[in-house]
Amino acid sequence: MSVAGKTALITGSTSGIGRSTAKLLAAKGCSVLVTGSRSPDDAHEALKDIQSTAVGKVHFVQSDLRDDTQVLEVCRQADQIFPEGINILVINTGKTF
Ligand SMILES: NC(=O)c1ccc[n+]([C@@H]2O[C@H](COP(=O)([O-])OP(=O)(O)OC[C@H]3O[C@@H](n4cnc5c(N)ncnc54)[C@H](OP(=O)(O)O)[C@@H]3O)[C@@H](O)[C@H]2O)c1
Repeated sequence: MSVAGKTALITGSTSGIGRSTAKLLAAKGCSVLVTGSRSPDDAHEALKDIQSTAVGKVHFVQSDLRDDTQVLEVCRQADQIFPEGINILVINTGKTF
């Protein structure tokens, strides 16, 4: 399956498994929304790394997913960034309800 031209939200993608997933999807032409609780300044190195091989666009939203209000804010921002919808959702980090 080709992911070129698709959209993806990967939670917890500033490091580790999430970051590798975001980097791979972006390199294959998918537009990705990277999230993490760190500040945009602290996420800079990760975003630069993901962008280094990206064909698709790379977006970042800071969000502490332990906080329900911030979870909703990620959804709101994802809706603005990808008005066409999200094709691939990777819940790599999240809260247990
Ligand atoms: N690595 C393994 O061998 C392994 C095995 C089994 C299961 N897992 C599970 O797979 C997931 C990822 O593992 P990993 O090793 O890739 O972890 P990791 O390198 O520590 O990455 C965790 C990611 O989650 C984000 N994150 C942490 N707390 C957050 C919060 N409160 N709100 C929003 N984002 C948050 C971090 O971003 P910030 O630092 O920007 O917040 C980071 O991007 C975890 O759920 C882990 O339990 C991993």
